[in-house]
Amino acid sequence: MSVRTLLEQPRIWYGGDYNPEQWPEEVWHEDMRLMQQAGVNLVSIGIFAWSHLEPQPGQVEFGWLDRLMDLLYAHGVHAALSTATASPPPWLAHRHPDSLPVTADGVTLWPGGRQAYCPHSPAYRQAASALVMRLAERYRAHPALALWHINNEYGCHVSECFCDVSAAAFRQWLSERYGTLDELNQAWGTAFWSQRYGLWEEINPPRRAPTFANPTQQLDWRRFSSDSLIALGDMETAILRRITPHVPVTTNFMGFFKPADYRKWAHREDIVSLDTYPDPADPFAAAQNAAQCDLTRSLGDGKPWMLMEQTSSAVNWRSRNVLKQPGQMRLWSMQALARGANTILFFQWRAAKAGAEKFHGALVPHVGTQESRVWREVSALGNELQELGPLAQSRVQVDTALLVDWQSWWALELDSKPSTAVTFYDRLASFYGPLYATNMTSDFVFTDSDFANYKIVFVPNLYLVDDATAARLEAYVAGGGTVVMGFFSGIVDENEQIRLGGYPAPFRRMLGIRIEEFAPMAEGEHNALRFADGGSSVCDLWADVIDLEGASALATFTGNFYAGRAAITEHAFGRGRAIYIGTRLAPEAMAALLVRICAAAGVRPPANVPAGVEIVRRQTEDGRILWFVLNHRPELVTVTLPLAGTDVLTGAAVAGAVALEAYGVSIAQAG
Ligand code: GAL
Repeated sequence: MSVRTLLEQPRIWYGGDYNPEQWPEEVWHEDMRLMQQAGVNLVSIGIFAWSHLEPQPGQVEFGWLDRLMDLLYAHGVHAALSTATASPPPWLAHRHPDSLPVTADGVTLWPGGRQAYCPHSPAYRQAASALVMRLAERYRAHPALALWHINNEYGCHVSECFCDVSAAAFRQWLSERYGTLDELNQAWGTAFWSQRYGLWEEINPPRRAPTFANPTQQLDWRRFSSDSLIALGDMETAILRRITPHVPVTTNFMGFFKPADYRKWAHREDIVSLDTYPDPADPFAAAQNAAQCDLTRSLGDGKPWMLMEQTSSAVNWRSRNVLKQPGQMRLWSMQALARGANTILFFQWRAAKAGAEKFHGALVPHVGTQESRVWREVSALGNELQELGPLAQSRVQVDTALLVDWQSWWALELDSKPSTAVTFYDRLASFYGPLYATNMTSDFVFTDSDFANYKIVFVPNLYLVDDATAARLEAYVAGGGTVVMGFFSGIVDENEQIRLGGYPAPFRRMLGIRIEEFAPMAEGEHNALRFADGGSSVCDLWADVIDLEGASALATFTGNFYAGRAAITEHAFGRGRAIYIGTRLAPEAMAALLVRICAAAGVRPPANVPAGVEIVRRQTEDGRILWFVLNHRPELVTVTLPLAGTDVLTGAAVAGAVALEAYGVSIAQAG
C-alpha cells in the first residue's frame, strides 16, 4: 500500500531515519520492539547505504536490505526507502576522479565526508541511475515500501560545481535559453567592461574573478545550478515512476534553501517534505520554524506535507549545540502538525556509535531507553499521535499570503548593489515576524500562485520581476485585493537589467508613486518616521526618496534632506489598495502597521493572547475548526479563547480559559 493511498487515511506518520547498516543484526530486533513501543510506523532507510548496497561497482548486496524490509513489515513499520545516491562510495571517485566537485576557486572537494560528487558528472549519473533501477526492481512489490525518498537534501553541501564538465553543461544550458550569442550578449549586457562573447567556448562559470563578475552571468549560473539539482531529481524520479508508478516520490527539502528553486521542484514530487533544525538558543526559533512549515505547506499548495527530519534533543553541527528543553520537541512537532504536516519524523532513530554525527540527538539515545528523558518524550509523543489521525486531512486556515520568489532572491543578493545589507531573509522576516507574533497565519505564494485566494498579499521584496508577474499583481489589486510591498521591489527585469522610467517602473501605476533615488543608510545610522495619525518610529537600513503620484503618505521621514517626504504610502487602485513601505521600521512599529492594514482588509488575530502563545486553526473536511494553541514560553500561561468545546488531546472541556503548562499544547475543537 502506498503513502498516496495511506495519506488519504486518517493517520499521522511517526518515526525517523533508520541506519541499521551501522549496527549488528541482533540490534535490529531490539529496534523493532522499541519502534512498536514508541508508536513508530514509518522509517527512512538506506539514505547513506550506497557503499553497503554496492561495495564495488556492479556488485550488489541486497540481502541485508531484504531482511530489514521483511522485519519492518512484520512489525507494522513502513519504509520510506531511499535511493541511497546522496553519498557515493569511495570507488566512484577512485575510478572517476573527475566525478568530484570543484569550487569557484578551483579546489577539488574530496571524498571522506559525504556528497562528494559533481551534479553533472556522467560517471555519477550513470552509477546513481543503475542503483536506483536495481532498488526499484527489487522492492517494487514489497509491502513495506510506502514511499521513495530520493537522494538526500540535494545541494546541502555541494550545490554547484565549477569543473570543466560543469562549464560545458552551463554553455549547453545557455544555448538552450538564448539560442544565439547575440541574444546572450544582449541579456547579459556585455557591452559593459568589454565582455562581448564571440564563441560559446569563451563563456565560463563565474569562477573566481578579479572583481564583480557579470551579474546576469551570476544569475544564470544560479538558475543553471538549481536546474542541475532538479535534473538529478528528475533522473531518479523518471526511473521510479516507470518501475513503481504506484509508489509516491519525495526528496527532503530544507525550507528556505537558497540554491534550489523549490517552487519549480515541488510540483515534480508527490508529496513535499521538510528537514528543520531550529536552534533552541535563538529567541526567534519558533517563528523561523513556523515559517519553514508554512513554506513547505505552500510549496505543495496546501496539501498535507511530511516533517522528514528534526532532532529529538540537539544537533551536533553548530559550534554550541543547545538542547531542546523538556516539552519543546513535542511543542515543535505539534507546531508542524498545526501548520499542515501529517508526518513527524526525526534524524535519527538510534544515536550512532561512530562517525561525524555520533553526538546528534536520536530517538534511542546512547544511554538506552531506561530512565531516559528523551525516550520518554519521544515514545509518549508517538503514542499520542496515534490518536490524532483524523487531523491529518484537515487544512490550515489562512487569509493572507507572503510572496517569495527564488529568482528575485538570487538577484537581490548578487554583489554590486546599493546596499548588500538588504537581504531576502531579513526582508521576509520583517513581515513574517509580526504576522506570526499576532497569529495571523499566512501562506507563502509564488509568482505562479493564484493571489485571488487571499485578502492581502504581502510582497516583502521583489527586486526582480517579470512583466507577467507585475501585471498579475496589478490585476489582483485592481480586482479588490490588497498588496503591501516592501522597498527595492520592481527594480530589474529577468535579465537583471534596470526597468527604466522611475522606480519601481512596473508598479508605479498600482502604487501611485515614483521613487527618485534610493538613500541606503550607513551601519548604525537611523532616521525617524512621523505617522499621519500622530505616531512615530525609528527606521534604518534604507530610505526611498518618493514622489507621490496619486498615493497618500501614511508616514513621512523626519530627518535628512528628504525630511517631510513620504516613507510609507497608500493608494486606492481599482477596487483594491496598494501600500508601499520605503524603509525598515522598528519591529513594534512594523507590527502595529501590519495589524492596521490587516484590520482594514477584514483580517484580525484569532484571539488576544500573551506574547509567545501561538494559535493556528485547521479546518476539517466536515467544516469543524481545530484550534492549536502552543505555549512557547517556559512557564504556565492562561489564555482565553473565543470558543467552548473539547480539548482533543485530553478530552477535557474548554470553556474560554485554557491553562497551558511551559511548552504546553492544547488542541481545542469547538462544539
Ligand atoms: C540533515 C541530513 C541528515 C543529518 C542531519 C543532522 O541535514 O539530511 O542526514 O545529517 O542533517 O542534523
